[in-house]
Amino acid sequence: MTFPEAIEELARQAGLDVPYEGGLRAEADPGRQKQSQDLFAVLERADQFYQQQLRQHDQSQRAIDYLKQRGLSGPVAAEFGIGFAPPGWDNLIRSAGNSEALQEQLVTTGMLIRKDDGHCYDRFRDRIMFPIRDPRGRCIGFGGRILPDAAEANQDNSGKKPAAAQGSASAAGGRKPGAAKYLNSPETPLFHKGRELYGLFEARRVLRDIPRLLVVEGYMDVVALAEAGIRYAVATLGTATTVDHLNRLFRLCNEVVFCFDGDRAGREAAWRALENALPVMQDGRQIRFMFLPEGEDPDTQVKKTGAARFEADIDAAMPFSTFFFERLKEPLNMDSLDGRAQLVSQASPLLAKLPDGVMKQTMNEQLDRFARRQNPVRQSLARAFVPRRYSAPAKRGRSATPSRVRYIFQRLLHQPALAQQAGDLSRFSQGDVPGLDLLLEVLEILQKHTTLRAGSLIERFRETDKAVHLQKLAAWQPEVDDEASLAEEFTTALNKLEQACLQQRYDALLAQSNLGQLSATDEAEYMELFRKLNQNKYKHS
Ligand code: UTP
Ligand code: MN
Repeated sequence: MTFPEAIEELARQAGLDVPYEGGLRAEADPGRQKQSQDLFAVLERADQFYQQQLRQHDQSQRAIDYLKQRGLSGPVAAEFGIGFAPPGWDNLIRSAGNSEALQEQLVTTGMLIRKDDGHCYDRFRDRIMFPIRDPRGRCIGFGGRILPDAAEANQDNSGKKPAAAQGSASAAGGRKPGAAKYLNSPETPLFHKGRELYGLFEARRVLRDIPRLLVVEGYMDVVALAEAGIRYAVATLGTATTVDHLNRLFRLCNEVVFCFDGDRAGREAAWRALENALPVMQDGRQIRFMFLPEGEDPDTQVKKTGAARFEADIDAAMPFSTFFFERLKEPLNMDSLDGRAQLVSQASPLLAKLPDGVMKQTMNEQLDRFARRQNPVRQSLARAFVPRRYSAPAKRGRSATPSRVRYIFQRLLHQPALAQQAGDLSRFSQGDVPGLDLLLEVLEILQKHTTLRAGSLIERFRETDKAVHLQKLAAWQPEVDDEASLAEEFTTALNKLEQACLQQRYDALLAQSNLGQLSATDEAEYMELFRKLNQNKYKHS
């Protein structure tokens, strides 16, 4: 709320009138204030009218039956002010009498639609009406749900969400083909969809303390949950959750749980909500995500499981950071450097949007852990020596494939003295190739013990998986046992391996630098790599 709104709200709660001398409302001009008071009054009248029609209209039994069939009780319907817009084009107009001014206000508030010829007709016809209230309880607009035909009413359970929300007659609740199931007030001076939450006023009115708020998608979900005794549900009005929504929610409590369908669309909507929430995740605020089984919405789910189970499911909802990382990691191969680099490049700009604090720090640390190289030797070896049918995913840049490591190993074990030609092993330190760790270990041993033979080398790894792998590699025999050409093959392969290692590291730094996340040290390393890679290109090719 703005400051004046807050004063007004506090005054209302205390039963006081705010005196308007002095500067308090300096910015609001009295004319406009009078106008919005009139608009509120006109909506209040419409609200009363629809509720009265639900009790009195001679066709209202259809609406009442429908609500009953959906499990709604009288008291809850009354509490939410649910009403009935009767069939016909001019019910609301006639209720307003012949006043031009009143009609104009009904047009401004979106209740009437004016045709080109100047005549007006009711926007909401033959619908169940859900009044939408602002935080102070004033009606600012409506949602209207279409009624199924009398004939269909019995078989229409309406709990199930149709695959296509709009369009087909059955998706629309059975009636006029093409009519949307729900019709909302348009944007008006009083009603802004991206800011309002259906059910928020009602929740505040019945709850002394709001422990948490559950954000759902539909009017009927809010009402059905209230019916089940879960009083802290609110709905966005057919829009994604905005920062305005979140600020409004977090002003009332520290915990917001989003409830979405478990299907793809639900997960997409949840992700959009997460993205919008990033900038408002100050410490102390908590957001979690609850995913319903496919095809269920909160209305059907709470009827199926009962309130206790439903609330237990809210308790178990997925934490913000879990959903964040699970969702980003899902399409990536976290065993590959490329996958981990992509995780970093996708997560970093999002995490940068979090306000500074413990949560930001913790999630950045989590990202670091995921991004770190994490395949232990055992695992990488297993992958380095899998049989042919294994096809590694294509890597960007020069490939540092396991087969190259195997190729080097075979020549090295055949002629261990080749290790002396391998040069300074630190040139491979940036590499992330399955099997490379063991190759470097072996090279180091052989460089130290210049006369070691393959047999005694393998003996050193006795009773480890490494020995088994090395044994297999040592079984290799060159086609032509020509020392000179073996040595050349070996050196060329090592140089190519070095180039691939540098390239890998270079690609990772490049991905990071594209995000503007290179430290001074990284930057220096990057330049050095760039230089080396180009140099080697001439040297080795
Ligand atoms: P749903 O299609 O999930 O409706 O739309 P629902 O709430 O389950 O409705 P019932 O159970 O069939 O009565 C969720 C929300 O999306 C908006 C409304 O705000 C609705 O509550 N919506 C949906 C529209 O604005 N227009 C539509 O045609 C459909
Ligand atoms: Mn529903």
